[in-house]
Amino acid sequence: SMEQSLRPTNLNQYIGQDKAKENLKIFIQAAKMREEPLDHVLLYGPPGLGKTTLAAIIANEMGVQFRSTSGPAIERAGDLAAILSSLEPGDVLFIDEIHRLPRTVEEVLYPAMEDFFLDIVIGSGPSARSVRIDLPPFTLVGATTRAGLLSAPLRDRFGVLSRLEFYETKDLCSIVERTAEIFQTSITKEAALEVARRSRGTPRIANRLLKRIRDISQVKGEEEISLATSDEALKMLQVDDVGLDHTDHKLLQGIIEGFNGGPVGLDTIAATIGEESQTIEDVYEPYLLQIGFIQRTSRGRVVTQKAYQHFGMKGHED
Ligand code: ADE
Repeated sequence: SMEQSLRPTNLNQYIGQDKAKENLKIFIQAAKMREEPLDHVLLYGPPGLGKTTLAAIIANEMGVQFRSTSGPAIERAGDLAAILSSLEPGDVLFIDEIHRLPRTVEEVLYPAMEDFFLDIVIGSGPSARSVRIDLPPFTLVGATTRAGLLSAPLRDRFGVLSRLEFYETKDLCSIVERTAEIFQTSITKEAALEVARRSRGTPRIANRLLKRIRDISQVKGEEEISLATSDEALKMLQVDDVGLDHTDHKLLQGIIEGFNGGPVGLDTIAATIGEESQTIEDVYEPYLLQIGFIQRTSRGRVVTQKAYQHFGMKGHED
């Protein structure tokens, strides 16, 4: 699919995340020199920053198969056993949302990760017995929004912990230009920069906004996506001048109007604006914290003066 071809296939094509990339390059090179599988890798950070892409790149760079599943898709120990026993030596198994693995499955994963074997109980009652199944050595790449969501024993079994950060505007701009090229579309430098600036540091958002802007530009008969069209499209999509969307506004204004700017507990805000607490915490809050529009205190979330100013309001006295 188009979505797939947007994804870079090796580390040199992967823009940004320099720290994670530098480290992975060395660990991959060393593993290849020793002719061993790469140590298990945990990728964590907000959604849309390229965890799945990076996992696929790791497999490609190691020259092995990429197998992909998710925590909630593995319901029973037998599901995991089936996947693990079908791997070839060195393969990368990617488990997205690994924090959502059922606890019973997680326990089967420990010896698999540590010593490449499964302890499976067959049958029940007095005839139940345990069989040991040896596995090919493999690399588990797990992805989650926050490392703290994993149980300590699972987290401890990853040799490489890699935190993905929000992208700098210059890196997002390069990604927008690269995507435009894949779409065989021209975009001015200033338009690409504007999309980058208003994408919440997130490539998935930048690429989605670019698609919609391209639609509008095309309908207008433009030869090249202009800044004016980008701005018009972003307004239509309810993306404000710093990249905040309708839900960000609902969240910030909910705290300002309902709770005089806070502090207010997460669950209280969630109930007020009708979003899941987990979604607020994993999807919306990280960027608002990063740009200093909210702060977390022991008594709850607080909207900052900077956020008040963004809405042209004076804010509370501190
Ligand atoms: N597309 C989405 N994320 C990307 C990245 N980090 N580098 C290159 N292209 C991308």
